[in-house]
This record gives sequence, structure tokens and C-alpha cells, in this order.
Amino acid sequence: MGKLIVGNWKMNGLGPALAEAQAVAAGLGGSLGGSGVRVGLCPPATLVERMARCLSGSSVLVGGQDCRAEASGAFTGDVSAEMLSEAGAVLVILGHSERRSGYGETDARVAAKVEAALRAGLEPIICVGETLAEREAGRAVAVVSTQVRGSLPQVLGGRPFSVAYEPVWAIGTGLTPTTAQIEEIHAAVRAEMSAVLGASGTRAPILYGGSVKPDNAAEILSVSEVGGALVGGASLKSADFLGIIAGAG
Ligand code: 13P
Repeated sequence: MGKLIVGNWKMNGLGPALAEAQAVAAGLGGSLGGSGVRVGLCPPATLVERMARCLSGSSVLVGGQDCRAEASGAFTGDVSAEMLSEAGAVLVILGHSERRSGYGETDARVAAKVEAALRAGLEPIICVGETLAEREAGRAVAVVSTQVRGSLPQVLGGRPFSVAYEPVWAIGTGLTPTTAQIEEIHAAVRAEMSAVLGASGTRAPILYGGSVKPDNAAEILSVSEVGGALVGGASLKSADFLGIIAGAG
């Protein structure tokens, strides 16, 4: 199955940044046809509709970075899955470590958001990952396995989704796990997905995220059970993001 490469712009990007998204679409052209690579960009909520409009007709998928579990209501500042979908999103990142740590999002909360995403027809990208302290305590596999079990609701069975393994200590640091460490965690994630979801847990891609750059992408993407990448900083520049995508072909 083709890899899924998704850029997470986080809280970066005003209108002029859409030129980078257009450059990604132009750079892909028809060249991905044979390789089956799927490419997505998740801009801040304010840019989802504009990005979807300017990329319509291209192969680039647009996504949100979070959503509320409820469809509507008195939740000042929040955005629902339905709102993202109406704005043109087809993907949504859920349970990113910056939300788990900054907003106290629990596995149960993430699972509720996954259900909301499916209700709105969005394809969720469910993030998990251990902190440095957890890794150093020898608990990386246990922590990530628990997150997968708690964050993937049963209703995911048969629906398109992916899990992203993003070690917290590798995000924005330039540090990456060894390929053996990535392989170990991805195998544990796969086992847990299969235990929770049965057959459909054996198929959905497991992305790696954390300091993915053009010069390490091909090596990371060749690791067993790495089905794609979730890219932060290097997705803000079209040349870097296209370089990463090239490593997936
Ligand atoms: P960086 O690629 O900037 O390390 O960020 C990874 C990430 O958090 C993507 O969601």
C-alpha cells in the first residue's frame, strides 16, 4: 500500500503561506500516480477553507489539526469535525502530544474525537508517543500500547484512519529514534491495533513523526511497518516537504 505523508503546520501560516501548499501540489504533478503515495497538509483552522479551495483539483488532501467531540454547542473557541468537513477538510489530526500535554487530553477524550471525525466523514490520524522520561524508564512500549488501546474506538473497524507514532522527545528537536527503536514501537502499535480492531487493525497505516527531514525520510520510511510520516517543521517549506515525499516513492 502507498505511504501517507502529512504535513502538520501547527500554529503557523497566514494567507501568503498558501503559496507553499500550491507549490507542493505543483511539485507532485502527476508524478505520484504509480507510487500510490498520498499527501496531505493540515494548516491552522483559519486556512482550511482557503487551502481546500486553492488545492481543489490537486491530489493534496487537506486536514484539520484537532476537533471537538461535540457537533455544536457552547464551546467557545473550539471547532467541530462537521465544521472542518464543511470547510473542505478530509483528514484530521487527533491526540497530538501538544494537545495531550497542553490541554490535558486523555485517551478517552481522543477516542471521542475520533468518533466525531468518523461521524463527519473525516479520516482521523491518531497520535501517540512517549516522553523522554517514559523512554528512559523503559516504559515506551507500555505507554504507547496503552495510548493505542484507549484512543481507538471500536467504530474505527472498516473505516479509513491511521495512527501516528510521535515520540515527544523527537518533536521539533532534531533528534530521531534509531530505526530499531521505530521498528519496535511500530510493531507494538500494530499488535495493539489488531487486538482492538481485528482485521482492519492489520491494514491501517502507522505513520512516524518527529524531526522527519528530507535527509532522513527515505531511511525512516523504509523501516518495517512505517506506512508514512507526519511532518511538522519541514512541511512549512514546499522544497523540504517535496524532498520528504520523494523518499516515500
Ligand atoms: P517536527 O517534524 O517539527 O519535529 O514535528 C513533528 C510533529 O509534531 C508533527 O505532528
